[in-house]
Order: sequence, then structure tokens, then C-alpha cells
Amino acid sequence: MTFKSTPKVELHTHLEGCAPPAFIKGLAAEKKIDISKIFTADGGYAFRNFDHFLQVYEAACTTLQSPDDFRRLVSAVLDETAAHGVVYMETFVSPDFCGGGDLDAWHEYLAAMKEAADEAEAKLGITLRGIVTGIRHFGPDACKPAARCAAETMGEFIVGYGMAGGEMVGRPADYAYSFDMAREAGLPLTCHAGEWGGASMVAETLTHLKVSRIGHGIGAASDPALVEKLAEEEIVLEVCPGSNVNLEAVSGWAAHPIVKLRDAGVPVTVSTDDPPFFHTTMTEEYDMLHKTFGWAEDDFAAINATALKAAFCDDTTREKIA
Ligand code: HPA
Ligand code: ZN
Repeated sequence: MTFKSTPKVELHTHLEGCAPPAFIKGLAAEKKIDISKIFTADGGYAFRNFDHFLQVYEAACTTLQSPDDFRRLVSAVLDETAAHGVVYMETFVSPDFCGGGDLDAWHEYLAAMKEAADEAEAKLGITLRGIVTGIRHFGPDACKPAARCAAETMGEFIVGYGMAGGEMVGRPADYAYSFDMAREAGLPLTCHAGEWGGASMVAETLTHLKVSRIGHGIGAASDPALVEKLAEEEIVLEVCPGSNVNLEAVSGWAAHPIVKLRDAGVPVTVSTDDPPFFHTTMTEEYDMLHKTFGWAEDDFAAINATALKAAFCDDTTREKIA
């Protein structure tokens, strides 16, 4: 049974994390950068755990040096994603990897990404939107220029602000300034929490950063009161089961709390996070949810409706996709 052709809405991907290894290898060869140690013998990305994953990720990013590299990246990623039935995708983009937070540079990188996205939309019928992300382990001060880039470029392509990176660095309140700046500019917000930090990290993220979506959020499942709050306040979880299994945030597919959260009324959605890193695709996620929990077309239709409703795009775009 495969759900490859089922139309899918995906809210949680990291743009550079979607780069096929062969694409990064090609850029490395062009630029004569030796990053051979980040690849396994069979051509995948090699990492031992989440912290090492972040290091390997950043090493891969050293090959992405110009707006044109990001234009090619977006094309390669959307070719692959569209092949799995994804019709709408949101992706985290980081000024830190696109000119280091400089606003003029950021405009150029964005224009290149948007050019590739528009081309893919016309060719493949997939719509891409970007969520600017601060990188948590770079620290609260480094997230401020990212938030400023988000505030200055919100519009048709940039539709939100969020934070990724090492979840255990600092506490949510340390990052409030950037989230306040983005919120005051009118951007909807999401933040990685509860992938590693447990229920307290999710609760603090809601209190201090006032986000409407949480990246992962699975740690919340251990706290019934928090689960109830997520359900009541309709806080949407961007759940990435294959990523959680690969990084051992859960012990295996059968132990994943997505069903428990959904059955408690929490709005859950399904995404891939960084598909080639975690040996997954949206097809694989759906196929494994079917195999493990018996999810079928009705279940997938429900999570896609939840995802589309929670998407940060404007209503005209939402209606076009529905
Ligand atoms: N989690 C957190 N930070 C990240 C990730 C991720 O999967 N990918 C890139 N930055
Ligand atoms: Zn993520």
C-alpha cells in the first residue's frame, strides 16, 4: 500500500535539510570544498545523534554560497517533493545561511528562491512558502537580525517566523525579543519545542513566545494538562514521525505519540523535517502511518485539512490549494 499520489500539505521542512546529498556533493565539487566526511559510503548524510546532525547540516550549508545556489536548491527540492504528491509546502529559511543576516543580501537570496518557486509552481503545481528562522544555538542576539529580515520581507513568499536549531540551548524566554519583533510586524509564529525538551519546553514556548504552531511538540504528550491546553487553544503540532524515529527522539514508530495526541483533540499535522537526512519522504511518512496505526485516506484527508487551515499563507493561496 502506498500513498504516493495522495495530495499532501507539509508545514515543517528545513530548506537546506531537503537538499539531496548528490546536490550538495555537486556544489562541493564545483567549489572545491572537502566535506567528504559528512557522507556515508552509500552516499547518505552521516551523523551520530542530533547535535552531530546539526554539525553535519551546517557543513553541508557551507556549499551554499550564493543566491544562485539557493535558486538551484529550491528547484531540486521542489522536483523531489512534488513527486510525492505534496501540493503545498512550507520551509524554514535562515538569513544566517543567506548573507549572514544582512538585509540587502537577504533580499537577493529571497528573490532567487522565489524565482525557482514560481517556476516550480507553474511546472509542477506545487506551492512553496518560506518561514524565516532564527537558529537557537547561535544565541538570542543572532536571532534578532533574522527576525528583522522576516519583518522586512514578509509578503507573498515569506509568511512566518520561527526558530530551529539546538532546542536545549537557553530557555524560550531568552528569545522573546525576536518573536515579539516578528509578531509586531504581523507574522504568524512557530517554534521547535518538545522534540527534546519535554512538556516544560512546550509550555514555556507557548507562554513566552506566543506561537500558534509548535515544531514537533511530542514531549507534550507526557503532560495531560498541557495536552488539554493544546487541544483547547488549537495549537497545531508539526509532527515529524520519521525524523523522531531516525534521531531516536522516540524508540520506534509504534511508540510514537501522534495517535495519543490526535485522539486527545490536539490538531496534528505530518511533515518530513529534513527528508534525505532522515531517509524519509512524505510518501514514506504516510505509508508508515498506515502500516503502524492503520491510518487511511480519511485520516490523511483530516490531517491535510488541519495543515491547510494552519498554513501561514494568505487565504487566496489557501483557497487555491483546497
Ligand atoms: N531540527 C532542529 N533544527 C534544525 C533541524 C531540525 O530537524 N534541521 C535544521 N535545523
Ligand atoms: Zn525541524
